[in-house]
Amino acid sequence: MPDPLIIAIDGPAASGKGTLARRLAAHYGLNHLDTGLTYRAVARALLAEDLPLDDEQLAAGAARNVDVAALDRRALSAHGIGEAASRVAVMPTVRQTLVEKQRAFAQTPPGAVLDGRDIGTVVCPDAAVKLYVTASAEVRAARRFREIADGGGSATYEEILADIQRRDARDMSRADSPLKPAEDAYLLDTSEMDIEAAFLAAKALIDQSLAEKK
Ligand code: C5P
Repeated sequence: MPDPLIIAIDGPAASGKGTLARRLAAHYGLNHLDTGLTYRAVARALLAEDLPLDDEQLAAGAARNVDVAALDRRALSAHGIGEAASRVAVMPTVRQTLVEKQRAFAQTPPGAVLDGRDIGTVVCPDAAVKLYVTASAEVRAARRFREIADGGGSATYEEILADIQRRDARDMSRADSPLKPAEDAYLLDTSEMDIEAAFLAAKALIDQSLAEKK
């Protein structure tokens, strides 16, 4: 059995890394894990019980209960859950518990595409290929705004931009596993790309990198 093939995709909120990761997983025949959903599941479990988001012991308990095989993307996708997730994601014991589950998922044959904030730096530092997907905060806010409006939600562009900037700052400045590109990551700026163009650019980088490793 060859080693599982692992592709790591990191980037800030609403950079398009999730859609990209899903498409790449389908293309290469790999499993896919959106690791943001694991942090969202912890936040949602606490919110559902009206529990505080800043109690590390409670949050670690919720993290232990997360089942990576049963994450409900639709139920976890609300914008407010993303904000709450970035608050529980600063806690080291929450991260440790979720990272163990993410690593076990990655090692399951035939391998996986994982997307998140710390996949290339912490979760899978030996991944075969690492991408860091980004776009300007304004482009990301406009994409998220359209998504929310299309889903019948109501939020202004300015509110979403402010949220995204606050979340970027929290994710990049936390002490444990801050969001940053791995030293050996390829940078992919999708500000001027639609999803098809981003997919083709990512595929070209991955194919080239895998060919060089052979
Ligand atoms: O990617 P998504 O927006 O669903 O992530 C929600 C939050 O979970 C992020 O803002 C971040 O704080 C946290 N997260 C993380 N590490 C990951 C994935 C997500 O800290 N690997």
